[in-house]
Amino acid sequence: MFKKDFPFFANSQTVYLDNGATTQKPKSVINSQIEYYEKYCANTHRSSFGDANKATTKYEESRKILKEFINASSKEEIIFTKGVTESINFIASSYAKKFKTVIISSLEHHSNIVPWHMQGRTLGAGLEVVNCDENLGFDFAHFEELLKNNPKSFVSVTHISNAFGIIHDIRRIIELAHKYESVVLIDGAQSLTHTHIDVQVLDVDFFAISGHKSFGPTGVGALYIKEKYLEEFDPYQTGGATIDKVDYAGSTLLPSPYKFEAGTQNIAGVIGFGEALKFISHVGYANIKTIEKDVYQYLDLKLSELPNIIFYNKIENSIASRSFNFKNISHDDIGILLDKMNIAVRVGHHCAQPIMNKLGIKGTIRVSLAFYNDYKDVDRLIESLKKALSMLE
Ligand SMILES: Cc1ncc(COP(=O)(O)O)c(C=O)c1O
Repeated sequence: MFKKDFPFFANSQTVYLDNGATTQKPKSVINSQIEYYEKYCANTHRSSFGDANKATTKYEESRKILKEFINASSKEEIIFTKGVTESINFIASSYAKKFKTVIISSLEHHSNIVPWHMQGRTLGAGLEVVNCDENLGFDFAHFEELLKNNPKSFVSVTHISNAFGIIHDIRRIIELAHKYESVVLIDGAQSLTHTHIDVQVLDVDFFAISGHKSFGPTGVGALYIKEKYLEEFDPYQTGGATIDKVDYAGSTLLPSPYKFEAGTQNIAGVIGFGEALKFISHVGYANIKTIEKDVYQYLDLKLSELPNIIFYNKIENSIASRSFNFKNISHDDIGILLDKMNIAVRVGHHCAQPIMNKLGIKGTIRVSLAFYNDYKDVDRLIESLKKALSMLE
């Protein structure tokens, strides 16, 4: 129903089921990129001629749109980055450095593991990992035990697992962490694609956002920083547009958000991200949820009918993604055959090697949906999977 808004679907025969990796872009987002480069390409927050002013206005409009979209209390709390990876690295190498212990979940993307390893934090030595149960659910009892033993920690947890679609109860995680005077960053890479986020209701301290997974351009994302932290730490990188005064003797920084956005930003990307958020609002999360839930249930039902399929979690605690294998068949081989049939899924470890290791597997076949996917896409996938299986058995 919404495919008509996405030029990709008019130009490609591919059944696109790799939305966990990146989403397609609506026409309005693509147009905003062309318009910026063709009609008012100029740098922001520097020059004062007409096009530069327009670029700055449009850039700042996106900040306002995102502020309202996630219900931040001020636009100073919104920092544009190049994505969730940068947002997490940013906090890991600045504010979170001072914490003795960082607590993550078992289901983290490498982007929320490696930055901590790079600081010399390893398991039991500055890094703790919350167990998951046999259905990959977050083990709250273990989390509380870790918090009790390590109060005043930094908790950095994904909202939705990209590898399995597991959705964490982040409200409960944040509440419990705060009870033990800990500070929480949520990796929201997969969040805005599927569900409404209200940072004030969540009472989250830091929230990392990906633009390209939320129908926006690549190379753009954001970091929400709760107001009370804005003055507490310095940026991890500085440069043009971050300073108030500089002399050889020293520099003074501008207030947030500018002190955190060093150098020329991805101006077109930020403007396009604003358009993507407008598009999501136009469709509405109520619509998105209904469509996704129906197609997701259909996907699960149809996959369950295939012989020798292995799932690692139930769909009750997950959203939009289904990860699986077939007994004695390589997921890589399935991926190669599906590609030949124009079905785009991801096979492999999905940048989540630790949980794959824990499950004793090398990877899975992951089908990840967005609201533009329909029953026909699922039918094409199932038909192709059946063909692939018959070739490999
Ligand atoms: C859960 C999760 N965290 C982090 C990332 C990295 O996000 P980005 O591409 O915006 O840097 C991804 C991307 O796949 C992800 O799924």
